[in-house]
Amino acid sequence: MADYDVIVIGAGPGGYVSAIRCAQLGLRTAVVEGRETLGGTCLNVGCIPSKALLHASHMLHEAQHNFAAMGLRGKAPSVDWPKMLEYKDAVVGQNTKGIEFLFKKNKIDWLKGWGEILAPGKVRVEEEVHSARHIVIATGSEPASLPGVEVDEERVVTSTGALSLGKVPKRLVVIGAGVIGLELGSVYARLGAEVTVVEYLDHITPGLDKGLGKALQRALKKQGLTFILGAAVKGVEKLKTKLKLTYELKKDGSANVLEADTVLVATGRRPFLAGLAPEALGLKMTERGQIATDAQGRSSVAGIWAIGDVTEGPMLAHKAEEEGIMVAECIAGQAGHVNYDVIPGVIYTSPEVASVGQSEEALKEAGRAYRVGKFSFMANARAKAVFQGEGFVKILSDQETDRILGVHIIGPAAGELIHEACVAMEFGASAEDLARTCHAHPTFSEAVREAALDCGDGAIHA
Ligand code: NAI
Repeated sequence: MADYDVIVIGAGPGGYVSAIRCAQLGLRTAVVEGRETLGGTCLNVGCIPSKALLHASHMLHEAQHNFAAMGLRGKAPSVDWPKMLEYKDAVVGQNTKGIEFLFKKNKIDWLKGWGEILAPGKVRVEEEVHSARHIVIATGSEPASLPGVEVDEERVVTSTGALSLGKVPKRLVVIGAGVIGLELGSVYARLGAEVTVVEYLDHITPGLDKGLGKALQRALKKQGLTFILGAAVKGVEKLKTKLKLTYELKKDGSANVLEADTVLVATGRRPFLAGLAPEALGLKMTERGQIATDAQGRSSVAGIWAIGDVTEGPMLAHKAEEEGIMVAECIAGQAGHVNYDVIPGVIYTSPEVASVGQSEEALKEAGRAYRVGKFSFMANARAKAVFQGEGFVKILSDQETDRILGVHIIGPAAGELIHEACVAMEFGASAEDLARTCHAHPTFSEAVREAALDCGDGAIHA
């Protein structure tokens, strides 16, 4: 008999969630993790610590910009950077311990060390070989490298180094106007850094509905971030007291230089496959170096499954979690399923951005007839009361059936509001279904309802 029913490799959101569901379904489960703490990139050096810094810097921004207008007098707080990092680390610590507790509660073994798949059903961790009926690869991703830019995690950093800088830099240059670049760029801009974002494309946030991207760029510009678009970074030179970043502007081929104290490389991530030797195992890979799977996470090798960032699809913690649950259910003989049409994406800037389903550009390209319902937070009483009238909700529904095809929000609590749309879409709702649902007053959520009304006979407060 094998040591385990399932060995999951990697304890990020995909892996640890999958393991918990496996255990709940009665499978003997172990997780291999080489980090000192559970939770993977997301919890240790990604989603969670960045949200702590986003929160702290947002509070500072509020104190500096909105307190006086509300009649709150007194000097705005100054930044105690070491203390802020301590707060961030404490948040991470509480959460990683939480997963350890969940492992104990569910009787999941943590095999400490880096795993290597020797063959289907055989995993070596350090010196020991463990056997399992099923192996789930959930090894995540690592930052993609950029030619001419050598990361040292001190002055030239990825998101990992950016979450523990020695001090707040005076001048920060961010390469890449994607999610990481904009979130961490916002943090340091609010903390007083001069932030310049250099992006290869002629717009920010690729893949996002363009209306949202434009509105976000405007908002971030107002917060002091500078954008250089259509620019290919050629290299970063490390001088004693500063960094020199060279880029070429695509429109005229001109070479330009930016000086910085810190450079953040945020140009995407690639699957992390160390110790997996996919070729030797016979795992089929995609053209982009991900492990190819069927719709339920089975790799091309029987008994080996793959989920999350090592596979195709958006590199999002919650996508990995869904896949982790699906795979656990399939292994347990149930009918696991992920609805890839309803996976929300959130950018935790201020204003927040959230999106689910199809963008307007994608619908146009597919030649689909659709309606647009839009509502501005400027006309939402609750948003105005808290200085967050910037932004809007946009709902795209099918011209014929009114079924909701996409929802795009920029504004207060967008990352929370989006789930109303997700639930509606899971149930195949029409915009009218949302519009006829009573929404409490005064809430930000009313803006979602108003946008839904706008897909039909019109919003009330527009
Ligand atoms: P990204 O794919 O979101 O953005 C990378 C950006 O860099 C793109 O705009 C791209 O055009 C640009 N770029 C690429 N090469 C370049 C070059 N040589 N010069 C200038 N610009 C260049 O990747 P990012 O921000 O690094 O994030 C990695 C992954 O992590 C993404 O899949 C993202 O979805 C995920 N993530 C999600 C978060 C969230 O859900 N809130 C937070 C942070 C990361």
